[in-house]
Amino acid sequence: MTTASLSLDGKNYELPVVTGTEGEVGVDIGKLRAQSAAITLDPGFTSTGACESKICFIDGEKGILRYRGYPIEQLAEKSDFVEVAWLLLYGELPNAEELAKFRGQLTYHSMIHEDMKKFFEGFPNNAHPMAILSAMVASLSTYYPESETEDHHDENIARLIAKVRTLATYAYKKSIGQPLTYPQNKLPYAENFLHMMFAVPCEEYTVNPVMAKALNMLLILHADHEQNCSTSTVRMVGSSRANIFASISAGICALWGPLHGGANQAVLEMLEMIQNDGGDYKKWVKKAKDKDDGFRLMGFGHRVYKNFDPRATILRTMCEEVLAELHIDDPLLQIAENLEKVALEDEYFVSRKLYPNVDFYSGILYRAMGIPTNMFTVMFSIGRLPGWLAHWKELRDEDSRIYRP
Ligand code: CMC
Repeated sequence: MTTASLSLDGKNYELPVVTGTEGEVGVDIGKLRAQSAAITLDPGFTSTGACESKICFIDGEKGILRYRGYPIEQLAEKSDFVEVAWLLLYGELPNAEELAKFRGQLTYHSMIHEDMKKFFEGFPNNAHPMAILSAMVASLSTYYPESETEDHHDENIARLIAKVRTLATYAYKKSIGQPLTYPQNKLPYAENFLHMMFAVPCEEYTVNPVMAKALNMLLILHADHEQNCSTSTVRMVGSSRANIFASISAGICALWGPLHGGANQAVLEMLEMIQNDGGDYKKWVKKAKDKDDGFRLMGFGHRVYKNFDPRATILRTMCEEVLAELHIDDPLLQIAENLEKVALEDEYFVSRKLYPNVDFYSGILYRAMGIPTNMFTVMFSIGRLPGWLAHWKELRDEDSRIYRP
């Protein structure tokens, strides 16, 4: 198939067809308006692709997710987050030299300008860390005003991956009134994050390897997901040639919403609510099915996955393993498993193909690691950052047109 025909008001239009790597078909309507004055209408973009991309592949029917051709299961088991970040950004897994250099860059850029610490003093203690993170990331552009020149793109990419981790932990330390903890050059990426989150000046802190392993895996599972809401936002903003910091800040804001990355916070709040209400999970499944009731089962459903979310499958197993290794008996895990069981057998959820998504089990893991609920979406941001950056880079490298639906 090389063309598709559209018949409109008695006229025929031949539209080019683009075929993806696995035979997926896209009808290219780019010239339709110029030829016929008609546009296509697709609120929510359920049938619309906005770009060609080589970064991520999803088959929602089969539950397949691949980054640059590598299955997510393989990356989650065999790689660490920094390797996966490189893979997304540069198209192949790094060799030893590339990896060492990249790790070195992430260490070199991990501190933030001392003056930026003053910004944290201006936020109220109860400020949501996502608000702080997006503001801080946009503010980075004031320190790197040369960021628009192309030869700085790779340096700024490393800067962002290194500094977002530091800024995230500073937002947390600010919210609990503790002094900020500086990064330590000897620590790898995930360990350094845990150190900055949990170390206090008055006592020794040693990173628990179980937590570091779990964190690496969580970040890998969140690292990219093709043209989702926040990634599309990064591309949209980047298409106006806004700088990299502004574009990523916009992505953080888009991720914050409860229908997107904010769902992980919403899931945990929902599980706590069910627990505080006596644990009757069946009552909440009933409420989720009631169209007159605004309640939705958070962590269920996905625009693309229609059988299972492979990330949720990995996370469920990891959740049980990590809780056992850390000797944590969390009653919320039991509620989550019961909810999942009931919903998966219920006609409402089965007929709409609503399955647990990545956010359903991630919150229980973060909680086991001591990460507070309002930081969950920040964790998602740290994980998704290499994906956003890879898409921003792809867009800029191909000199795309400004997005204007
Ligand atoms: N609980 C109850 N009913 C639901 C749910 C849910 N979680 N999700 C969808 N439905 C129903 C919805 O009411 C609709 O029913 P009907 O056909 O009778 O009107 C049908 O299922 C289709 O839903 P939709 O809202 O049209 O689907 P969408 O593709 O626009 O939205 C979604 C996808 C993920 C926003 C939605 O499933 C949802 O709100 N889920 C809960 C929030 C959540 O967990 N979000 C995280 C997504 S995964 C992380 C990420 O990548 O962002």
